[in-house]
Amino acid sequence: MNTHDNNQHKPIATRIIYSILGAVVLFIIGTLLYRYEVLAILTDSYSEPSASQQESEAVQQARRKLAEEREQWDTDVTATPPAQPTSRRGYYAPPAVSDIPDNEFGESVKRGREIFVNTGTNAGEFVGNDLACANCHLDSGRLEHSAPMWAAAVSYPAYRGKNERINTMEDRVNGCFTYSMNAQHSEYGAAPPPGHQVYKDLESYFYWMADGLALKSSPPGQGYPTPPETDLGYDRKRGKQVYADNCAVCHATDGQGRKDLNGRYIFPPLWGPDSFNWGAGMHRVNTAAGFIQANMPLGKRFSLSDQEAWDVAAYVMSFPRPADPRLSQTEGVDETTDRFHQHMDYHGQTVRGMKLGEPLTEASWSAFMEENFGQQVR
Ligand code: HEC
Ligand code: HEC
Repeated sequence: MNTHDNNQHKPIATRIIYSILGAVVLFIIGTLLYRYEVLAILTDSYSEPSASQQESEAVQQARRKLAEEREQWDTDVTATPPAQPTSRRGYYAPPAVSDIPDNEFGESVKRGREIFVNTGTNAGEFVGNDLACANCHLDSGRLEHSAPMWAAAVSYPAYRGKNERINTMEDRVNGCFTYSMNAQHSEYGAAPPPGHQVYKDLESYFYWMADGLALKSSPPGQGYPTPPETDLGYDRKRGKQVYADNCAVCHATDGQGRKDLNGRYIFPPLWGPDSFNWGAGMHRVNTAAGFIQANMPLGKRFSLSDQEAWDVAAYVMSFPRPADPRLSQTEGVDETTDRFHQHMDYHGQTVRGMKLGEPLTEASWSAFMEENFGQQVR
């Protein structure tokens, strides 16, 4: 016997309808709160359903789709062929680090990744400066317009004008050790010898990263872009102000970067003896302008105008750095300029009282720093 019911005047059907309506209204309010993250906004913990969060969800979804399509393709030749997994931004979506396989191949991939990110620690005997591969190939070599390794992986072997022959991936990596990592000043004195495990592990890492990308597909986002040339051309003097406004906070006014308490660079040096040498691709004003516009200031990519990118690249690339290793194949800096530097750069010019391309000595470098930045070499 239910006395409670007896006290109600409304028929039971009406009460059921009211409660259903109530539930629906609550559900809609709840959905809206969730959809627009109203609670998070009210409690101040709101962060845009962050672009990177959405991006990583899209990537995971694209990778899952690839796996499904492959499974169908394996069992049914009439199935749709697996398509390239693509990020929200429209670029190839490499697999997540957590998807590195748990086997011997995966071990090599992991070692390759460690070498790429902490080159000085994991391939130190071949590194003659304070850089890591990932300083110029951002997000561990995964970021589009940062010369990503997935794009490189499907593009070699390829012909290169730099040495006028077909280059394997090993040749290409050898080039970045020789020039970008200034291997001539390393313990070993040169890039790793042919067939070295360092190459094999790096190649495993790149090969794994490109899983799902078609060979020779020239994927969008490969290499660094080049900003269009401007009417004013580039000017290192104008670039000084751009540098002060956008770069010095991290790379320091003297371009020598900043170290943490353990003496490891958190912001890498841009010129001087700890930087890349005159043979590295980055010393070209056009290459640097593209790298900088697409990747710097860190966290604000694509914020500099074309003019600013050209000017600041000219400023940074007009400072002294270690000699081009090919200097020893010539009679001197002028011949090196003639033979190897017929492009947009400052090699061979005398800027701020120093002939660029001459080997840096401790004495010449400290005199230069004293004169230009009024300080001892640090
Ligand atoms: C100082 C900056 C810098 C560092 C450090 C550096 N690289 Fe590079 N790397 C470049 C530049 C510049 C290019 C040429 C990109 C272009 O042509 O658009 C390049 C190109 C490459 C390519 C070919 C990319 C392609 O799509 O063709 C590979 C592979 C590569 N680097 C690997 C490495 C490895 C491995 C290391 C570390 C051992 C390394 N790089 C260190 C600047 C750097
Ligand atoms: C918020 C700090 C920050 C700012 C601001 C910044 N950078 Fe960087 N820069 C970095 C870091 C960190 C790296 C290495 C990237 C990595 O390892 O992920 C880097 C790498 C570089 C490199 C390649 C590596 C090297 O040492 O040669 C160049 C060139 C460069 N920055 C130039 C610039 C220029 C020019 C500006 C100003 C337009 C700038 N950066 C602004 C933090 C910064």
